[in-house]
Amino acid sequence: PGFTVEVLPELDSTNSELMRRARAGRTEPVLLVAEHQTAGRGRLGRSWESAAGDSLTFSLGLPLAPPDWSGLSLAVGVAVAEALHADIRLKWPNDLWVDDRKLTGILIETAAPVDGGASRYTIVGIGINVAPRAAPAIGLRELQPDATAPGTLLAVAEPVVRTLQAFEQFGFSPFQARFERRDALADRAVRLSDGMAGTAHGVDERGALLVHTAAGMRAVTSAEVSVRPA
Ligand code: BTN
Repeated sequence: PGFTVEVLPELDSTNSELMRRARAGRTEPVLLVAEHQTAGRGRLGRSWESAAGDSLTFSLGLPLAPPDWSGLSLAVGVAVAEALHADIRLKWPNDLWVDDRKLTGILIETAAPVDGGASRYTIVGIGINVAPRAAPAIGLRELQPDATAPGTLLAVAEPVVRTLQAFEQFGFSPFQARFERRDALADRAVRLSDGMAGTAHGVDERGALLVHTAAGMRAVTSAEVSVRPA
């Protein structure tokens, strides 16, 4: 589909703006870029803080009707990681890490079904650190000193759109091996937010994280996972 590209100097959040538009019936494909966000949002109610120039913040919005939504955020993470840099690893479900430091966060939200049909307006929000101030983060400037904002946006947006189209047709399974090639948690000791500890062993064909625990193998779909110090 044809995408409109819109760059605005300031917004509360590109995800919030596309959600407002979707609720008002505007569900056309768009790439919305904010040069500065005043209330950027992260997963699990967290915020995405950045001053102007600190990070690239944008959202893709389009109607999507996959038969199964599971694994979408992982597939998008794969697309962004592959588009940016060879040494990026994926921290399940969809953070991008370099040396265990966060480069990119992804927040996917869906609005109510479009025209009462099968498709939902899907908002894929991506924040890429460029020159972060917070300590455990890493920025693109350190990895690719010559990268420009428009160049990076184009390099990322196009593969993400193609990924969304492929996901709509084939679901997560074509992305499983590509995820595992970059799995930051593979064979590492992890702790789940419910207190359970174990060793991570990749993902299944729906994108659930496989964790070997004292109680056996668990397929984790919605917990927070942290790496345990060795
Ligand atoms: C996370 O790390 O928890 C996800 C962060 C996602 C941040 C991006 S910035 C562009 C888009 N608009 C938002 O408000 N959030 C996402």
